[in-house]
Amino acid sequence: MTPEKITRPQFPKNFIWGVATSSFQIEGAHDADGKGPSVWDSFCEINGKIADGSNGHVACEHYLRWQEDVDLIAGLGVNAYRFSISWPRVQPDGQGDWNEAGFAFYDRLINALKAKGIEVHLTLNHWDLPQALQDQGGWAKREVCEHFTRYATEVARRFGSRLDSICTHNEPWVIAILGYEQGIFAPGIKSRAQAMAAVHHLLLSHGMALQAMRGLGLKTAMGIVLNLSPIYPASDDPKDIAKAKLDDGLILRHYMDALMFGKYPTDVIEHLGADAPPVVSGDMATIAQPLDFVGVNYYTRNFSSSGNPWDVASTGNLVTDMGWEVYPQGLTELLCRLHQDYQPRLLLVTENGAAFKDQLVDGVVNDTARLDYVRDHIAATHAALQQGVPVGAYFAWSLMDNFEWASGYAKRFGLVHVDFETQKRTLKNSALWYQKFLSEK
Ligand code: FCB
Repeated sequence: MTPEKITRPQFPKNFIWGVATSSFQIEGAHDADGKGPSVWDSFCEINGKIADGSNGHVACEHYLRWQEDVDLIAGLGVNAYRFSISWPRVQPDGQGDWNEAGFAFYDRLINALKAKGIEVHLTLNHWDLPQALQDQGGWAKREVCEHFTRYATEVARRFGSRLDSICTHNEPWVIAILGYEQGIFAPGIKSRAQAMAAVHHLLLSHGMALQAMRGLGLKTAMGIVLNLSPIYPASDDPKDIAKAKLDDGLILRHYMDALMFGKYPTDVIEHLGADAPPVVSGDMATIAQPLDFVGVNYYTRNFSSSGNPWDVASTGNLVTDMGWEVYPQGLTELLCRLHQDYQPRLLLVTENGAAFKDQLVDGVVNDTARLDYVRDHIAATHAALQQGVPVGAYFAWSLMDNFEWASGYAKRFGLVHVDFETQKRTLKNSALWYQKFLSEK
């Protein structure tokens, strides 16, 4: 099937169509109504860490404009919305008292979505850890697992019956590796040992939280979201092939093997040597809780080379404003591979999208490249379904332009354009296409 021909009715009737955001990237109101600082609030204050020197103080002002944004979401015709709770908004120091004003915000948001018939897919941790917990070592310290479990249980107790799914963590690899090993994301640490401890505690706290939340007797689907770029060797050279296998272990098998089989891959553990994760007896069984779904965030593929750095231009494919190759087949291949190697009950495409340099001219953003990207990845999702892979959702990243982490506001991923001076939202042509696609019966 050519991607141009993809239509909604080719998908199962109960397929979930959504848009996604995260708290820090859109909410703003960084210290309103008792919210505590998160690691990203602190990280933005360090000179040179954010490309445009910006921060999350205002972002998309979603904390104030949430009603308008719910209308925007409903207007697109999606049947689901994926967003995250800011932990320090509901528990300013991550371990003490609850902040009722913070919970009230999400309570209103959830009710408004439900009133419009929109499914609510909630993420507990999309990176904005309370700074007070980072002061105690953050994800690198085992104690954080208890704090996270308590927070997760409180959210589930209050909101669980109104939620269509709960995701514990968004992209543990990014939190741990970019945040604790490479230091380019919050909290800006450069230590492989701390990074691998962080991975372990993210996975462990995921398992602990799932056990605790399920203990409440909820029917809500529960799972985790991973960034799973498929890795290809840069050439047929056996050294490149070996490097690609190891890199695949570090980014995919380390997480999937732990979650699905309750063990870390031996080759990865050997490679890590003294930096291997601090596993305590019983941890792996806790991590491997049954999952209702695995969420997949897919943007591009990666190449591994043992020698010369690999050049994305050599593929000849279009490259986004992030420098990421556009490669929709990679999504089909990834979903098929996950199904074949791990048989998760259900896969959800929880993020997929692209940044391009947009131009707003006379109220129109003619973002053809993004429109093609979204359409071709929807078709790639369909191709996996046709091969028997249980895929249940597609969430476009993102509802609207927002704070793109270390890139600040310079990289625009939205289907909806945001003018950050006036906060005016304008549907880009990609949004209009998605709206039309969704209206097909
Ligand atoms: C993912 C993040 C999301 C967004 C996209 C572009 O890694 O989960 O918040 O920044 O990348």
